[in-house]
Amino acid sequence: MTDFPQGFRWGVATSAYQIEGAVDADGRGPSIWDAFGAVPGAVAGGDTGAVACDHYHRMPEDVALLGELGVDAYRFSVAWPRVQPTGSGRVEPRGLAFYSRLVDQLLERGIEPFLTLYHWDLPQALEELGGWRSRDTALRFAEYATVVHDALGDRVSKWTTFNEPYVSSIVGYGEGRHAPGAREGHGSLAAAHHLMVAHGLAVEAMRGTPGHQFGIVLNQSPSTPVTSSEADVAAARRHDLLLRRQFTEPLFAGRYPEDYAETFAGVTDLSFRKDGDLALISTPLDYVGINYYYRQHVADAPHRDPDPATRTSIDIGIDTTRLPDVPRTAMNWPVEPAGLTETLVGLKERYPDLPPVYVTENGCVYPDRPGFDDQDRIEYLRAHLAAAGDAVAAGVDLRGYFVWSFLDNFEWAHGYKHRFGLVHVDYETLVRTPRASFHWYRDLVAEQRAKV
Ligand code: NOJ
Repeated sequence: MTDFPQGFRWGVATSAYQIEGAVDADGRGPSIWDAFGAVPGAVAGGDTGAVACDHYHRMPEDVALLGELGVDAYRFSVAWPRVQPTGSGRVEPRGLAFYSRLVDQLLERGIEPFLTLYHWDLPQALEELGGWRSRDTALRFAEYATVVHDALGDRVSKWTTFNEPYVSSIVGYGEGRHAPGAREGHGSLAAAHHLMVAHGLAVEAMRGTPGHQFGIVLNQSPSTPVTSSEADVAAARRHDLLLRRQFTEPLFAGRYPEDYAETFAGVTDLSFRKDGDLALISTPLDYVGINYYYRQHVADAPHRDPDPATRTSIDIGIDTTRLPDVPRTAMNWPVEPAGLTETLVGLKERYPDLPPVYVTENGCVYPDRPGFDDQDRIEYLRAHLAAAGDAVAAGVDLRGYFVWSFLDNFEWAHGYKHRFGLVHVDYETLVRTPRASFHWYRDLVAEQRAKV
């Protein structure tokens, strides 16, 4: 395997709603995922995050397991509704105290906390005021960020504002597959914009402590046309706009994508853009996190409404189901590690001033085998690490790699069916059992550390 640079961080990742459970504990308010989970048919099997891995009550045991794994870093998220049960105003000290204990226990084991402020669990009270469609939510987010930063900034130095704003906005407000389950064209694009405004406001509010680093995590992957036809190439470009450039252009180039207004003509009047937003969104960052799982294969497809002037949904006339003949994971995601290299190298080429990069998520789901001998997961991770190494060799300033996920957890609209963990969780007994991949990763981290 490639030698990763000195100081490279080896980690694992989770998020609050996916593992914590304890949704009514210590004054936590409801989030949009509690509300969405109560909608019949919204989540497979009627699953909810009510118990999840019960990490909220088992945190010391989980941190001990992280210690055994020997990682340098742990990426987790703070649940906004634990800190501010209604999303603004009153702060719940018991919610903050939980994260404070978590941070202390990580530091005791020499594990660096990588804190994400928002991994999709918006306080339901804010959704009732418009959620991310409303600019006010961005202002509330900056306040919340300041509260958490004031409480934990003496011990946490890596601060990520958002995890995958594409999913929060387009999947949540456009496709309705995630909370809050809306299907709006304008609303989802407004949400995407407001998430980025919130990012800029929060970074500006938190910045100032020497040594603190601020970043954002984006899901990124190449949008590859299924043929070289003009129509498929144009479809892939629209997809790239929706998935990547609507975020990366304002963040890393301080401009809106040139094809935005044309692609979304009829869908939005752009009224959510305000003077000064670009300067705010492009505030310099210390790192960017990339979540990579699979390459996107894009074909042209008819729009539901063929007239761009009256089109109101987020439908951009694409089909992403025509997959090549390559191995797939249990979620039918094509396994194409070279897509990771291409993503990392491509970003660097497109944005010469790109900040240092972390792969903040990478992982897979396969059916469990007897004895939790997940050789297929080990192979997936090994191949993707090699691909990350190729990006390093090509000059990408990669600073770390986080496996998704430390534990099996609530996989959003799929419920508990799909298991990403290095550690198996029995949802009846809540017993944790490390898989073969856990031991493999522990040994790899130890070996890599010995090299530097
Ligand atoms: C990205 C998300 O950040 C995470 O919450 C999710 O579980 C993984 N991808 C796997 O789908």
